[in-house]
Amino acid sequence: MSNLKRTHTCGELRKSDAGIEVVLAGWVDSRRDHGGLIFIDLRDRYGITQIVFNPDYGGTELHKHASELRSEYVIAVKGKVTERPAGTANPNLQTGEIELLVNEMEILNRAELTPFEITSNTDVSLELRLKHRYLDLRRGEMQKHLLFRHKLCQIIRQFLDKNNFVDIETPFLTKSTPEGARDYLVPSRINPGNFYALPQSPQLFKQILMIAGFDRYFQIVRCFRDEDLRSQRQPEFTQLDLEMSFVDENDIINIIESLLVEIFDKLMGKRLKTPFPRITYDDAMALYGCDAPDLRFGMTIKDITDIGKQTDFKVFKDVAQSGGLVRGINATGCAGFSRKEIDELTALVGQFGAKGLAWFKVEENGLSSPIAKFFTQELQTNIKNRMEVKPGDLLLFVADKASVVRQSLAQLRLNLGRRLGLMKKDAFNFSWVVDFPLLEFNEELGRYDSLHHPFTSPKPEHLSILEEKPLMVKARAYDIVLNGIELGGGSIRIHDTEVQKRVFRLLNIDDVSAQKKFGFLLDALKYGAPPHGGIALGLDRFTALLLGLDDIREVIAFPKTQRATCLMTNAPSEVDGQQLKELGIAIK
Ligand code: AMO
Ligand code: AMP
Repeated sequence: MSNLKRTHTCGELRKSDAGIEVVLAGWVDSRRDHGGLIFIDLRDRYGITQIVFNPDYGGTELHKHASELRSEYVIAVKGKVTERPAGTANPNLQTGEIELLVNEMEILNRAELTPFEITSNTDVSLELRLKHRYLDLRRGEMQKHLLFRHKLCQIIRQFLDKNNFVDIETPFLTKSTPEGARDYLVPSRINPGNFYALPQSPQLFKQILMIAGFDRYFQIVRCFRDEDLRSQRQPEFTQLDLEMSFVDENDIINIIESLLVEIFDKLMGKRLKTPFPRITYDDAMALYGCDAPDLRFGMTIKDITDIGKQTDFKVFKDVAQSGGLVRGINATGCAGFSRKEIDELTALVGQFGAKGLAWFKVEENGLSSPIAKFFTQELQTNIKNRMEVKPGDLLLFVADKASVVRQSLAQLRLNLGRRLGLMKKDAFNFSWVVDFPLLEFNEELGRYDSLHHPFTSPKPEHLSILEEKPLMVKARAYDIVLNGIELGGGSIRIHDTEVQKRVFRLLNIDDVSAQKKFGFLLDALKYGAPPHGGIALGLDRFTALLLGLDDIREVIAFPKTQRATCLMTNAPSEVDGQQLKELGIAIK
């Protein structure tokens, strides 16, 4: 054990401390030798303090000892806080007005040459960072991200506690809860051939807690989903999960808005304007082509299918007459786009199935385009009115079946937003998407799937058409969207056994398999289930968005790669034969 016990942190000392004797401990961030003096930047979580080895002050022995120091050595030093000589203060450091004149040092540990430098701005590959995550997390930037996340969680906990929410843990070794992904399975040694599923969310447990009378529940909880990973997805991720009894949609929306106002006030120093805009699912799909609209900018999608029907432009006419859609975007002020830029945009929509991208440049005296000749003056005027044009605008259209038109224009709109610098990282545009359909038709499997999950309540006024016109039924579901990213989703739940069974049947889950899979829920619903509902926010996504980061791995201490591996521990890995034997498992 060290003789030198730390008295202060490396971020703490100021001019007013000059003259006192202190002990600091930390990592050697950098070292400079100047005319017999050795300067070390000593780093810990709290900051950096410059320490000085001067042979005239600490003696030649100590000075010699200090010349051994290398980056990332861990040391403790004792010395006197002194004001820096005039003109040498460092305004970039909080401790920049002082330095520590060292008279005693202990090397607590040595470090090998690190595979990358511990600095805030690094261009090291993500692989290397993940492999040596302990070094990566030592970087100021990563410490800032995780401390921010910690603060965010504290604010959430305090707010929810103040509002009567109870933090209750739910099991990880459990039964499948369908949220639309594959389950991670865990074999049971004691029950050979049986498996637990890791929860995709605590959905059913939180509903059971409402039935148990807890009234308001929350948990900051890990969820596990075996799905295709993208930059916003991890196989295990964290939700702020909550549930409330005796509520409707507005109660959930209000509590989340108040929570967000508090978070922005305390953490971001910003005032959020509430209520957030609400947009129906149908409008979001029509105007933005997707159910998570980025409202930081306009340029909404407009429909000209009716005009398409009347033109001689075969592409539009054929699509419009055969039940497809012709829709487009007014890229305001983009008439100057070059051939190359338009080709890039055409290639982009091509990735989403569009067979082309028709364009018109808006000039003082009309529309200019190779295809303008197929449109009469009257039709051109109709297009201009519909697209709300002014000279200098560029009109871009896709004609195809609905899904292709929506998806390709949604991506085109985002691409334009990015190109034109309209997606500011420090702008936070929240919205609620409401009135989701209850079901969608899964073409591949030829059956209905829940758009949200099977426990979401249909709108009561649509219960009568549940079996006849299932696709017309709207759900009591809502999503919260921030800057075009789905931050969270929730719903008012079914609290009636019969309705729950009817929905299961629509989803091709007959009474027998419903009892087998969700019997505990169906049973619980029989014994006095209060009306209830809730929501879950993706905490990793939320933290990343608040910090203006694109990759959620920047705010997760030990994330996984796109292939769901951990480069530091090498999980997943093979296990030994004995373990498998005990579990009654053989690898094919
Ligand atoms: P849902 O499935 O919409 O709802 O999940 C809620 C939020 O969790 C985040 N999220 C993810 N974040 C990172 N990686 C993933 N793989 C991942 N998957 C989802 C998203 C998403 O909006 N039980 C319901 C909630 C409820 O009905 O109350 C649920 O889990 O931000
Ligand atoms: P073409 O008739 O193939 O020479 O196409 C004329 C213009 O229409 C080109 O700019 C194409 O990109 C565009 N185009 C072709 N197919 C479509 C489509 N399905 N939707 C929109 N534009 C299209």
